[in-house]
Amino acid sequence: MEKQIKTIGVLTSGGDAPGMNAAVRAVVRTGLHKGFRMIGIQRGYNGLLNGECFEMNLRSVSNIISAGGTILYTARCLEFKTKEGQDKGAAKCRELGIDALVVIGGDGSFNGAAKLACETDIKVACIPGTIDNDLNYTDYTLGFDTAVNTVLNAVNNIRDTMSSHDRACIVEVMGRSCGDIALFSAIGGGADAVVTPQKGLDLDALAAQLKQGEKLGKSSNIILLSEGVCSAQSLKEQLAAVTDMTLRTVTLGHVQRGGSPSLRDRLLAARFGVKAIECLIAGKKAVAVGVRNEEIVADDLQKALAYPAADRSELFKV
Ligand code: ADP
Ligand code: F6P
Repeated sequence: MEKQIKTIGVLTSGGDAPGMNAAVRAVVRTGLHKGFRMIGIQRGYNGLLNGECFEMNLRSVSNIISAGGTILYTARCLEFKTKEGQDKGAAKCRELGIDALVVIGGDGSFNGAAKLACETDIKVACIPGTIDNDLNYTDYTLGFDTAVNTVLNAVNNIRDTMSSHDRACIVEVMGRSCGDIALFSAIGGGADAVVTPQKGLDLDALAAQLKQGEKLGKSSNIILLSEGVCSAQSLKEQLAAVTDMTLRTVTLGHVQRGGSPSLRDRLLAARFGVKAIECLIAGKKAVAVGVRNEEIVADDLQKALAYPAADRSELFKV
């Protein structure tokens, strides 16, 4: 007979992302409404191993829907990457009476959850929370929309000053090995060029493109650069060797990770949270919830992690 779930733990893991709090809220409220005991685990898998947790009620998630960051804190935990760490995590779940876990994080966090589910009777439901948008099974991860809007605001300001001085600016954005923040921001911000890991860097082609812009009388050039290719400083040095443009660099950094979540992220968070609890009620062992073509989906976790990368060729034409 399958064990009935009575207690659900929820944690946020990896880099924080706007919308994580809104997801915690949805998970806790839905879980309580369905009659579960809800436990908040602090600082991701680190907190699980150390037993840093507390019982959550409706008041625990009051007034957090609009807040960036995560009230559960987050961390990276090397120990959990080892079999010993995962065994310790499973033992801690048993000790705390946790039958299922909702994990909000990126692909690393999902891999950890998959291992926990595989080795034990603990059920896991994963919610994609990372600004990187690097989980291929879902069209959007929580935090991506807010992060891109933050980049767009910065690009608007940068363009004002660059065009006043006839300068070009390389704007380095986050995303690890995924170029989506750069690509989507380049389109939305009307950038003159974009450099992503998917496309790679063709220095001569980039220099020719910028020169052509100059010939056409452009007063500014904005180049969106994904951190997965190289640093803004490195690209500046490479471009300086082949052009005579006046170049400046901006590395947006962690400003992209903070801020109040956009409507899109709040809405997704709410829908993901409800779906995660529904999947656990339905007896799913290990799932990843996501959104495809605006519909909320729940995939087998291993299948979700094996999804091929999205084809962005149409967006590169824009
Ligand atoms: P994200 O979840 O945003 O991708 P990380 O890659 O840093 O962030 O992963 C977050 C945490 O997930 C790690 O610190 C580690 O505890 C856990 N984790 C990552 N990869 C694995 C793995 N292969 N096996 C087990 N746990 C992992
Ligand atoms: O995964 C989210 C992310 O912000 C990446 O875009 C970035 O490369 C990384 O985390 C930065 O990590 P940290 O906050 O540890 O410097």
